[in-house]
Amino acid sequence: MSTHESTSTRESTSSQQTTPEDALADLSSTTVVVVGAGNMGGAFVTAALAAGIAPENLRIVNSSEESSRRAAEDLDATPGTLADVDDADAVVIGVKPYQLDAVVPSLREHLREDALVLCVAAGTTLAALGELLGGHRELVRAMPNTPMSVGEGVTQLMPSPEAGEASVGLARALLSASGLVVDLPEDKGHALIGAAGSAPAFVFTMIDAMIDEAVRQGIPRPEATRIVLQTVKGSAVLLQETGEHPAVARSQVMSPGGTTAEGVAALERGGIRAALAGAMDAAASRSRTMSGE
Ligand SMILES: NC(=O)c1ccc[n+]([C@@H]2O[C@H](COP(=O)([O-])OP(=O)(O)OC[C@H]3O[C@@H](n4cnc5c(N)ncnc54)[C@H](OP(=O)(O)O)[C@@H]3O)[C@@H](O)[C@H]2O)c1
Repeated sequence: MSTHESTSTRESTSSQQTTPEDALADLSSTTVVVVGAGNMGGAFVTAALAAGIAPENLRIVNSSEESSRRAAEDLDATPGTLADVDDADAVVIGVKPYQLDAVVPSLREHLREDALVLCVAAGTTLAALGELLGGHRELVRAMPNTPMSVGEGVTQLMPSPEAGEASVGLARALLSASGLVVDLPEDKGHALIGAAGSAPAFVFTMIDAMIDEAVRQGIPRPEATRIVLQTVKGSAVLLQETGEHPAVARSQVMSPGGTTAEGVAALERGGIRAALAGAMDAAASRSRTMSGE
């Protein structure tokens, strides 16, 4: 039996996180083909294996047999070919946006009518993908970010209006070990790219700068790295766990005339808010341009 029917399903809300109900879905006999397991497709593979897909049921198809074999070895999955799509419960598309026109139509002749197609590519739409797939109904777009590979990602889930509950449930179950899954309409996808898809790179840049300055101040690089990473992680977890507004949490570290007040004033003089807003806006704008808007 396809586990397609046995996965959990529920109503979409405006924004929700995966729940233990998703994690409990039995995916051990679900078959998945990932077409394009690079950075993002690879992160998906790691999350899907953590969600319970069996390595022998997770096939990887890259641009060549050699590349599929190498990726499968690195990710503890199984190399495959497009012929594996014939029996797949789910097909995940992880190729670059400019490769979609060439790759997606080649799936059509292999796809089972009830198979879920989950596409993680930016710069496309459900309508464009539906057309490339010849009207396949069981289609879901997902906009993840790379922290998915360590179970701390953010993924926007965008089901086609025609997708059945079983497909949407299977998409959720596949992502149940990936971090936060949010339901937001497709037209919010560009904003999501600025806030989540591209945002890890903004945070990595900030972390890199903080480590370099800690080293300049005399802390050895390995300790500087550990200290900065824990500070960034600890600050995020503190806000998550207390639910405090960041301005309130910041004011609690700022004594009058103290070190933190001096540091925050320097950040504001450096234009940190404008720089971050500019980065998010630039990423969102680029995404709009790429999808032809
Ligand atoms: N990176 C991110 O943070 C991020 C975030 C959100 C969404 N995305 C989306 O994720 C997608 C992939 O991005 P990426 O950064 O992961 O790219 P990537 O690392 O270059 O991966 C692309 C993968 O596609 C494979 N591929 C290329 N041509 C193929 C073909 N004809 N048949 C099968 N596989 C083929 C490549 O295999 P070879 O190595 O053999 O060429 C490679 O494994 C993009 O559409 C992007 O918009 C990425």
